[in-house]
Amino acid sequence: MAGEPDLELIDITKRFAGFTAVRRVSLVVDRGQFVCLLGPSGCGKTTTLRMIAGLETAEEGEIRIAGVRVNDTPPWQRDIAMMFQDFALFPHMTVARQVGFGLEMLRRPAAEIRRRVTDSLAAFDIGALADRKPDTLSGGQKQRVALARALITEPRILLLDEPIGSLDYSLREAVMLELRDVQRRLGISFIWVTHDQNEAFSLGDRVVVMNHARIEQVGAPEDIAERPRTRFVVWTATTSVFARRAAASSSPAPTSARRRPASRHRSRCGPHS
Ligand SMILES: Nc1ncnc2c1ncn2[C@@H]1O[C@H](COP(=O)(O)OP(=O)(O)OP(=O)(O)O)[C@@H](O)[C@H]1O
Ligand SMILES: [Mg+2]
Repeated sequence: MAGEPDLELIDITKRFAGFTAVRRVSLVVDRGQFVCLLGPSGCGKTTTLRMIAGLETAEEGEIRIAGVRVNDTPPWQRDIAMMFQDFALFPHMTVARQVGFGLEMLRRPAAEIRRRVTDSLAAFDIGALADRKPDTLSGGQKQRVALARALITEPRILLLDEPIGSLDYSLREAVMLELRDVQRRLGISFIWVTHDQNEAFSLGDRVVVMNHARIEQVGAPEDIAERPRTRFVVWTATTSVFARRAAASSSPAPTSARRRPASRHRSRCGPHS
């Protein structure tokens, strides 16, 4: 269904032994959006992602992907991929095998898997690492392998749980810019979980502020910075560098103050370049 949003969450709730980890969360992600889920530790971000992925069941509410209810659809049939904070690479598999794993799961023919893996390794500039195992890779290389593995099945939505959290600060900015480029180029939706305000406000088309299992506010970064609706959102927005810059500039055109990743990393990676 071409015109449908990529994702709709309608009042989804998750409880663990009586404790409510996610309470009546509703969200619409339009085609190809970059959405950042921002909130403090324990507020329910990962649980929300895991419900979208089908790794947890939503006890109440509905999850739709491309307009189709997927509550009872297994993870591998949801047209999504997930990238974890620690990359969750398989320790005993070579880079090439890991990248092709999603296609193996879909039982694609061996010749097709070989061709698509070769293309993907080239696109992500990791062809030279094809026969290496994860424990011999740097943090940045692991991150590329994880991204290639996640995108090889050409999912509609990529879920990223603190994807740069384990990288050195020196690498983070470059990796952020690269991921942003990949998202723009492929036109797929990214749902990026973070507890870092600067990451969320500089990357997201829309920021979803979560606290205590609920969504407090959803909006473009500039809307949230200018019109925070709750005290928690005020605190969140004012602790971001972006918001401080926007306030300091007091520009009449707030969108101009928005920091956009530069395109200097364009064409480094991405399977459809
Ligand atoms: N399998 C589980 N069993 C019991 N409680 C759980 C389980 N998974 C998550 N929780 C609880 O649900 C709440 C939300 O957890 P979640 O992992 O979604 O938080 P988060 O926002 O991702 O936090 P962080 O930023 O620390 O990763 C926490 O209180 C957590 O302890
Ligand atoms: Mg988490």
